[in-house]
Amino acid sequence: MKKNISLYSLDEFDGMRHAGRLAAETLDYITPFVVPGISTGKLDEMMEEFIISKGGISACRGYHGYPKATCISPNHIICHGIPSEKKILNAGDIINIDVTVILDGWYGDTSRMFFVGKPSVKAKRLVDTTYETMMAGIMACKPGATTGDIGHAMEQVARKNGYSVVMDYCGHGVGRVFHDGPNILNYGVPGTGVELVPGMIFTVEPMVNIGTHETLTLSDGWTVITKDRQLSAQFEHSIGITETGFEIFTKSPKGWDFPPYNE
Ligand code: MF3
Ligand code: CO
Ligand code: CO
Repeated sequence: MKKNISLYSLDEFDGMRHAGRLAAETLDYITPFVVPGISTGKLDEMMEEFIISKGGISACRGYHGYPKATCISPNHIICHGIPSEKKILNAGDIINIDVTVILDGWYGDTSRMFFVGKPSVKAKRLVDTTYETMMAGIMACKPGATTGDIGHAMEQVARKNGYSVVMDYCGHGVGRVFHDGPNILNYGVPGTGVELVPGMIFTVEPMVNIGTHETLTLSDGWTVITKDRQLSAQFEHSIGITETGFEIFTKSPKGWDFPPYNE
């Protein structure tokens, strides 16, 4: 299905600033609770209550039948992990929490990695590189650059560190709808793809794997894992293209954009 690419006015960016901020605040709010012994279902419940208390709703609940408010993806789960009371976090786990809120009709979509207790050297290196990968993609964004430039910048960082990027899932246009064009692939050839122009709004959300890029979807129809069960990490920001570059709508108000989050 060919997706539309919407262009938004700078006034409309204000709607994204608010929705993006609420999504980021939701991750800030949950951060101190991401500890060994808590269930991902409990974290989901707390985040949904927080979102509603601030006048928003979860964009995920009910989306193509998705049953929860957020996605929580530990360890070898790449994305779309379904929170559950039965899934208890253990020391040493790394988890991605992905929050998408709707506020006044605008969609704010962001995810971060969290360390449950102390991570292994191997896991920490993956998480650090994945943040660097996302930021390299974002830094490539300006009018005249292309979606291929973004993908290329991300793929370079992941590959030079010995990792693979997931090819089956990608970033997407966002704004007044959840998933719009353009697709923001996690790999690419410079100068190819869609040219970026002021007013575009999309996510940059690389998934980086220690081993193979290949994915499997579990029988629940949602949970996506690495085929080789090695670790995967992801960060996501919603951004807008400005006259001179980009604006990130989902920065952490607390400065907790990547772990560790101890003040
Ligand atoms: N937030 C995810 C994204 O980054 C999408 C989750 S869809 C859901 O695009 F249904 F799984 F919640
Ligand atoms: Co997204
Ligand atoms: Co997301």
